[in-house]
Amino acid sequence: MAFIQRTLKQIAKRYSGNLAYFKKPHYWRTLRFRVFAGISVVALAIVVAVAISSRMESDERGGFFLSQLYNPGPISQSHADIAKDCSKCHQVPNAMMVVDVKASPVDQACMECHKNHELHQPNVPRSHSCSACHHEHMGSGPMKPVTDANCASCHAVQAVMTQSAELGKTLPPSAFDLTPRDGHIHFRAPRPAEGYTAVFRSFEEGHPEFQVHREKLKDPNTLKFNHKVHMSAENMPLVDGKKMDCASCHQVDASGAYMQPMSFEKNCQSCHSLQFDARNPDIHLPHGDVESVQSFLASLPLQYAEKARRLGIREEAELKAFVRIQLEALRQEVRSSTELSQSIFFSTESRSPTPRIQSMPDEGRARFAGCAYCHEVKGQTTGVPELTPPVIPDRWLSRSQFDHSKHAHMDCASCHQVENSVATSDILMPSQQSCLDCHSSKGGIVASCQTCHGYHAHSSVAALQPTGASQGSLRHMMLNGGVVTSDK
Ligand code: HEC
Ligand code: HEC
Ligand code: HEC
Ligand code: HEC
Ligand code: HEC
Ligand code: HEC
Ligand code: HEC
Ligand code: HEC
Ligand code: HEC
Ligand code: HEC
Repeated sequence: MAFIQRTLKQIAKRYSGNLAYFKKPHYWRTLRFRVFAGISVVALAIVVAVAISSRMESDERGGFFLSQLYNPGPISQSHADIAKDCSKCHQVPNAMMVVDVKASPVDQACMECHKNHELHQPNVPRSHSCSACHHEHMGSGPMKPVTDANCASCHAVQAVMTQSAELGKTLPPSAFDLTPRDGHIHFRAPRPAEGYTAVFRSFEEGHPEFQVHREKLKDPNTLKFNHKVHMSAENMPLVDGKKMDCASCHQVDASGAYMQPMSFEKNCQSCHSLQFDARNPDIHLPHGDVESVQSFLASLPLQYAEKARRLGIREEAELKAFVRIQLEALRQEVRSSTELSQSIFFSTESRSPTPRIQSMPDEGRARFAGCAYCHEVKGQTTGVPELTPPVIPDRWLSRSQFDHSKHAHMDCASCHQVENSVATSDILMPSQQSCLDCHSSKGGIVASCQTCHGYHAHSSVAALQPTGASQGSLRHMMLNGGVVTSDK
């Protein structure tokens, strides 16, 4: 389109006789100047007000401006105490914060208060920013739960898992010892050569079978125990007047989540008391270390004398006679004290005339069979007993968490098939398939990763970790709208 061109002559004509026009005041020009000056003053006032207000806010004297102006949203209830103190998370003082907030090391600030929260696994190619999973400024209620997409961003990505498996091979096994030091006895499955790097999307799509079953692991406990016999033997003695059931030996701990440890005294003694002399079934060996049993045996005359006193025998000669008769009777059965000791420590046979406990009268049913009835006892050739103390784990699937109280309405046997188990070496844990009946879209019960797993290594363990791979990679983190990118 052609413009209407004015010639130079036409323009010059317009200013002829009016060359100093700009020296004369004009309504439009005055207004322009006033508007400019006015805006400048207002802007300056705002900057000053913001600066003062933010200083007041960090002094907790209550400001009004900054949070309204620059706050992207209310802070969650967990951080309500520091909601107004922006610098607790942003580390940049006062008004300057606005400029710097994106590049500020928010994660470092999180870790000032939440120590040891960066470690998930030592072989992650790079850690995620805290705020990739925990979102702030999203409302004053509780923080939103971490979503499965966060877990899937590594666990469902082949490239990440392959890289992790490779990285894992370069680290010492001790770096992966993340078992919590929480007072429980944990069954420790060995870490597979490739680590736990299976690729899957959800609990129902590809989540691996639990390692104890996948690798057909065995319980290494040396205590001998036979669930089948105890659950099904005919004429099994009653426990507290009731038929024995799982709860006779297994009861949940105070939290309701896991089972209490068992003890000989609480769970076995009522039937297997350490009674060794059929004529004196009320005298029991102490249960515990070999030495105390040996010194008890050495003090047998004293034990019988004590019994005599309990029976009301005061006369010295009568007392001595009682003790002699008991010892002689015992010797008739075992011939020597060495033999007595040998059978107590090593024999797996019942010494009672009727080997089956249940057919014995009440007092005698606890006929002692020897420590080796329940324990691994070595040293039979040398004659010096070495008893392997049993270790009964009370946490089995330590890489996950479980809660028995949430499943109290269920039959134990629907998860633990013990009725045919005759050996301790059987691991009686449920399969992954059995959980899917409920924890799946079909079953309708929550099946998010967080239902069964935590993310952060237990603090008792994380504190032990050397500043290894995961911390190194944190240094290379930059916040980018809540998603993490690495600067490398
Ligand atoms: C408990 C810690 C915490 C406190 C307290 C906090 N913030 Fe934040 N803020 C964050 C986190 C985490 C992010 C990063 C979110 C992201 O990158 O998506 C963020 C992001 C921001 C952003 C950038 C938003 C964006 O979209 O990039 C601004 C602006 C901000 N905060 C302002 C404030 C102000 C103003 C206050 C004080 C009233 C404050 N914050 C208090 C944790 C906090
Ligand atoms: C000034 C100390 C402080 C800072 C900084 C801080 N927190 Fe917290 N955080 C707390 C306290 C206190 C709690 C409450 C603990 C409680 O309720 O037992 C908490 C709770 C939490 C919780 C648990 C919330 C829940 O619902 O259970 C998460 C997750 C969390 N903070 C993440 C973060 C993240 C991510 C950052 C960095 C953006 C951060 N925190 C910065 C002190 C802090
Ligand atoms: C991949 C997601 C993810 C990342 C990244 C992440 N968390 Fe968590 N965080 C979780 C999950 C899931 C839980 C709840 C389960 C648990 O307790 O482990 C949690 C729980 C927490 C809790 C409350 C429970 C507790 O242990 O006290 C705090 C605090 C917390 N995270 C802080 C942090 C901090 C700080 C960072 C950054 C260094 C961070 N988180 C990074 C997923 C994540
Ligand atoms: C930054 C990547 C990354 C993210 C995000 C991540 N994981 Fe992992 N996770 C790994 C790697 C790598 C391993 C393998 C460790 C090994 O080789 O033994 C692993 C192992 C595990 C294991 C088994 C090993 C163990 O000792 O517990 C569980 C369970 C687990 N992750 C749960 C989760 C959950 C739940 C989330 C989400 C809240 C999550 N992970 C998010 C990288 C990640
Ligand atoms: C007389 C006591 C007793 C009774 C009754 C009993 N248990 Fe056990 N249970 C034990 C002992 C001892 C162990 C440890 C030795 C072992 O692992 O076999 C054990 C271990 C277990 C374990 C974990 C060890 C593993 O290998 O997985 C489970 C699960 C278990 N029992 C379930 C049950 C169930 C279910 C019942 C009821 C049907 C039951 N038990 C009845 C004594 C008993
Ligand atoms: C009926 C089975 C049974 C018999 C018989 C038995 N024990 Fe035990 N013993 C157990 C059980 C169950 C445990 C594990 C629970 C506990 O520590 O109370 C145990 C644990 C032990 C421990 C380890 C204690 C600890 O604190 O770690 C020693 C030592 C021990 N027994 C020695 C003996 C000796 C010595 C004998 C023989 C005089 C014996 N036991 C006979 C069942 C038995
Ligand atoms: C209610 C009584 C009762 C209790 C309590 C009891 N048992 Fe038994 N136990 C028996 C009876 C009865 C037999 C013998 C069954 C038979 O020979 O047919 C037996 C047999 C055994 C055997 C030999 C199993 C076999 O394979 O022949 C061992 C080992 C044993 N018990 C260990 C224990 C341990 C360990 C505990 C405690 C955790 C315990 N028992 C608790 C009654 C009991
Ligand atoms: C929904 C399935 C389910 C039901 C029902 C169930 N359990 Fe368990 N049980 C488990 C799982 C999973 C573990 C492994 C927990 C862990 O990691 O330590 C376990 C562990 C155990 C252990 C080993 C000790 C421990 O706490 O880890 C014993 C013993 C046990 N259960 C007995 C029982 C008895 C007895 C009942 C019935 C009252 C029962 N369970 C019901 C799933 C179940
Ligand atoms: C018969 C159905 C059923 C089966 C089978 C089942 N669960 Fe559950 N589970 C539930 C119910 C119902 C809850 C409670 C859910 C709730 O509180 O929202 C639950 C809760 C849980 C929780 C606790 C979540 C929390 O909030 O603390 C865990 C962990 C869990 N189940 C693990 C398992 C595992 C592992 C298996 C398989 C060995 C399993 N469950 C099998 C029904 C089942
Ligand atoms: C219903 C409970 C449940 C849910 C839901 C669940 N898991 Fe698991 N997961 C387990 C149990 C139980 C184990 C076995 C733990 C052990 O062996 O110590 C396990 C094992 C794992 C392992 C180790 C795998 C291996 O190779 O042995 C990883 C990794 C894992 N889970 C990640 C996840 C992730 C990611 C999610 C969410 C997509 C998830 N799990 C959901 C119960 C669950």
